[in-house]
Amino acid sequence: MARVAGEATMTSLLLLLLLLPTAATGGRVTKGWESAVERRRSVLDNGLGMTPPMGWNSWNHFHCDINEQLIRETADALVSTGLAEVGYQYVNIDDCWGENYRDSQGNLVAKQSTFPSGINSLADYVHGKGLKLGIYSDAGTQTCSKTMPGSLGYEDQDAQTFASWGVDYLKYDNCNNPGTNPRERYSKMSSALQNSGRDIFFSLCEWGVDDPATWASSIGHSWRTTGDIFDSWDSMTSRADENDKWASYAKPGGWNDPDMLEVGNGGMTTEEYRSHFSIWALAKAPLLIGCDVRSISEDALEILSNSEVIAVNQDSLGVQGKKVVWGGGTEVWAGPLSGGTVAVVLWNRGSSPATITAEWSDIGLSSSTVVNARDLWAHSDTASVQGELTATVDSHACKMYVLTPQ
Ligand code: GAL
Repeated sequence: MARVAGEATMTSLLLLLLLLPTAATGGRVTKGWESAVERRRSVLDNGLGMTPPMGWNSWNHFHCDINEQLIRETADALVSTGLAEVGYQYVNIDDCWGENYRDSQGNLVAKQSTFPSGINSLADYVHGKGLKLGIYSDAGTQTCSKTMPGSLGYEDQDAQTFASWGVDYLKYDNCNNPGTNPRERYSKMSSALQNSGRDIFFSLCEWGVDDPATWASSIGHSWRTTGDIFDSWDSMTSRADENDKWASYAKPGGWNDPDMLEVGNGGMTTEEYRSHFSIWALAKAPLLIGCDVRSISEDALEILSNSEVIAVNQDSLGVQGKKVVWGGGTEVWAGPLSGGTVAVVLWNRGSSPATITAEWSDIGLSSSTVVNARDLWAHSDTASVQGELTATVDSHACKMYVLTPQ
């Protein structure tokens, strides 16, 4: 154990040394990035999550109605639709995968009626497709559905089980807890994962109740900042706003999580889903698809596969873009990217078309800077833009750009 801890420390030190020159010499060094580097040292420092995770999760569309066939078919569909190729790699099973008891040795057991082949064989299948498998547990006595045990008091044993099954990602929920400090309960699982012998992405899901942005970066790779998202405009916009408050805490290795994507589930218009995806990408949120990928619509596939928008999310600088101007239903969101470029979203949250302007002073450019403006949804360029960027934007729609100084 001491050897493992020693190795982890060395790895972290090397990582820190590698990151420091980047931060010092990069085109745009922001305050957030500098402090991000200072906070880089973490307990669960296994090199994962250097960019936000991308994948799929069963909860938003299927809730408890899941089985191994669905997981296999989803892995197949991620590959056949091209979504795997643009970066969606995690296939994450949410609540309800297990029996409501532990075996005689105290191990969690996959539900015989729905996962008869077991999680290990599912992991083999998913890995065979070049993807990774995620699973779900809870820092309490039972999961939120109350259909299976939680991991409280069994952290080491369950982490060992997950590692032995070949699991790559753990979402860790917060239901049925004894009222004790989440920081302690989540730290225990973090250490257990670190000692499990496998690199496992650790996603904290305590719904933002104890301000995890302020402490979770030393424990996990992402932390929910909000309650559950629902497939509606109001739910999506309020999650975006709640998450925005914590922007300065995001960094490579640890991300704010405003909950999973609803794109493709049918409750919002195509333009609303485009806004949802643009803001999640800009905010460096985990991009976890929440629809039925096996029967995904063309519109949803076009949104989720936009590799120019995905590139903003996966940018190596890792600074969360945020809301910089708002009022009267129109908003400008922006954030720096590597190489001195800037990502901008002009978002119309009002009920009629509006003209929205981002002034250079709002988005961190000096007034004399001349840029090429790349429209990431129209896939077109406007050269020699100076001082401000203006567009007319339909109700509930957005325009998203990357500005490159010429
Ligand atoms: C909630 C969690 C959801 C989902 C659900 C499962 O607490 O926020 O994302 O995991 O539990 O029961």
